[in-house]
Amino acid sequence: MLNDSIHYANGSLHCDGISLAQIAERIGTPCYVYSLPRILHQLQRLKAAFQAIPSEIHYSAKANANLDILRALIQAGVGIDTVSGGEIWRALQAGCPAADIVFAGVGKTKAEIDYAIDEGVGWINIENQQECAWIQAAATRAGRTQRVALRLNPAERAATHAAIATGHAEAKFGLSATSIRELMQRAERYPALDFCGLHVHIGSQLSEPSATGRAIDAAGNLLAEYPQLATLNIGGGFPVPYRQDSELSTVEEWVASLQPYLLRLQLREAVKIEPGRFLVADAGVLLTRVLYCKRQLGQTTLIVDASMSELLRPALYGAHHEIVPLNEVEKASRETMQVVGPVCESTDVLLPQVALPPPQAGDLLAILTVGAYGMVMASNYNARPRPAEVVVYRNGAESGWRLSRAREDWRSFYPGESQDP
Ligand code: LLP
Repeated sequence: MLNDSIHYANGSLHCDGISLAQIAERIGTPCYVYSLPRILHQLQRLKAAFQAIPSEIHYSAKANANLDILRALIQAGVGIDTVSGGEIWRALQAGCPAADIVFAGVGKTKAEIDYAIDEGVGWINIENQQECAWIQAAATRAGRTQRVALRLNPAERAATHAAIATGHAEAKFGLSATSIRELMQRAERYPALDFCGLHVHIGSQLSEPSATGRAIDAAGNLLAEYPQLATLNIGGGFPVPYRQDSELSTVEEWVASLQPYLLRLQLREAVKIEPGRFLVADAGVLLTRVLYCKRQLGQTTLIVDASMSELLRPALYGAHHEIVPLNEVEKASRETMQVVGPVCESTDVLLPQVALPPPQAGDLLAILTVGAYGMVMASNYNARPRPAEVVVYRNGAESGWRLSRAREDWRSFYPGESQDP
């Protein structure tokens, strides 16, 4: 979606005053472009929405682990929520103090737990009882006490796409309230673990907050039983509009409706939040170039140089991302078409129906709201190089841009592969 940072100026699409066509000409396509000012603006909005609720933010690096984005958020005082050894390493590489890292995940390996504890991560979110023994062993060896939060599965089905709901009883995530009570009864078996919080995350892109409210209440019942649990981590899930006509609540409304639930918990420590999508989604665009236009059997198909390899969400979830021309044209001169990528899969459709100006090979388009779960889910399918990433930054009143990550080269796809015949 267009916003204060991604906007048309003099008929062409800009990011914070920088011409996106100019970036496409210099860097080539497909290419992700991210607005750092927009990300920091969203961070300020979220902080303001939580003003009346003592809170601490851990940015969910799974949404976008671009180094410049991580650095900007860490410099703005945000911790990082990680789900693998690789993400912990990445957060440290970006300069995050280990104490500000949360390590979560439904299937942490022993090696990842050892690494997390050796590096000194602040929190580990626990999803099953067996993890406790591994954390106990690693923390004892390191001579540390490890703060842990227990992830509650509140048996609440979130109002979102089925593929990104995580809080229902059949989901693989979290511990039931009964499992948490069993674990708390055996807590003294794990003297190196400081059981000091609960965690609950019922899904992403939550269209309305009532299920989250009920999940917070369910967590509240457990917090009341175990006074050593001083805080609650409510995860991410803050919704982002992907369509111009979206009727989703704003983040301000969303947080306001959860505020009574959070305040009545009377937590001793700040509530933790793990926003991913909200901070980065609408700061990102994917620039792509028209390769061919095919008119047959009553339909127009536009084949562009971006595909499901660079942006998987439409193929995987049927997710909607608007596509706009870099050069604005009269609405009257548009034609309805499907936009597809070159990958050999029928699901490689970026947008099944869109009205665009009659295309010419070489025209530039922007796929909008791709800052979250775009590049991180890109692959080398069909031996396609992952795209370049550019960041636009502000330096005082001036905007500038730089190549943040170069496009991959297919000659580097197979490192470590044996060359033996
Ligand atoms: N915390 C936990 C425990 C999570 O599992 C997630 C996302 C987040 C925080 C961040 O959630 P957010 O604020 O971004 O909603 N690939 C999917 C989204 C998967 C989300 C996974 N967990 C997509 O493209 O929609």
